[in-house]
Amino acid sequence: MKGIILAGGHGTRLYPLTKYISKQLLPIYDKPMIYYPLSVLMQSDIRDILIITNPEFVSIYQDLLGDGSHLGINIEYKIQLEPKGIAEAFILGEEFIGDDNVCLILGDNLFFGKSLSTLLLQCIKNINQNFSTIIGYEVEDPERFGVVEFDDKNHVIGIEEKPKIPKSNFAVTGLYFYTNDVIAYAKSLEPSDRGELEITDLNNMFIENKKMLIEMMDANKFKWLDSGTFMALHESSAFIMEQQKNSNSQIALLDEIAFLKGFISKDNLRNNLKNLSSDLQDYL
Ligand code: G1P
Repeated sequence: MKGIILAGGHGTRLYPLTKYISKQLLPIYDKPMIYYPLSVLMQSDIRDILIITNPEFVSIYQDLLGDGSHLGINIEYKIQLEPKGIAEAFILGEEFIGDDNVCLILGDNLFFGKSLSTLLLQCIKNINQNFSTIIGYEVEDPERFGVVEFDDKNHVIGIEEKPKIPKSNFAVTGLYFYTNDVIAYAKSLEPSDRGELEITDLNNMFIENKKMLIEMMDANKFKWLDSGTFMALHESSAFIMEQQKNSNSQIALLDEIAFLKGFISKDNLRNNLKNLSSDLQDYL
């Protein structure tokens, strides 16, 4: 299974911050935002990862994460010249994906929960049975997201992108698992009215073909945060700070995850310490 992190876009809602830095490099408490989605892929045992980003920022990502070998993973980079929609990731990533299945995570989506690994494992099981999988999360403001529509037996019958009158309170999160058909489906998409290849149109194709499952992320057990506004950025940072303080443990500390997953040895981990603060060195 391959992994793609989409870290493009102009992030205009966060100007002037995103005038000089990619949104997905902004700090969320003590780490760059992209560490959080990257940690989700690593927790899913995905070790071949493509980061798609804008031409002006790609070298910063490369300086930060390199080829991933210090984490026991392989990171490649691809440039998205213009933000032409989330679904373009599969066209840009065609060669990288090859014949594999693929997990896409949006670079500004943060997921937490003790049972996250169990949920991720379930998504991979679905994929192995040839079902693509989206994640649903109950929200108070569904009109901001892709929204799931269910029939009376609770089967998903479709998704609407940012509907004025949402048919449920379940948003589609920015974490998607697809079978390899996603490349062909993405290529057959027509741009929407706003000129983008919509992820929701792509998901609806899988739903129509009865090849899409939805896993629910219970809001009592999981936290899903997106960081698209100043307030959301601040709330995400506050949340991470609280969680880390209360649990005396680290969220999205990539070196720790790589070590615990067995991607790197103790010696590798020791070698990585020089790039961390003294507090994190002590912790590790
Ligand atoms: C995108 C998708 C939307 C999804 C959301 C999750 O919206 O189009 O369906 O619910 O990500 O973060 P965007 O945040 O790009 O407006």
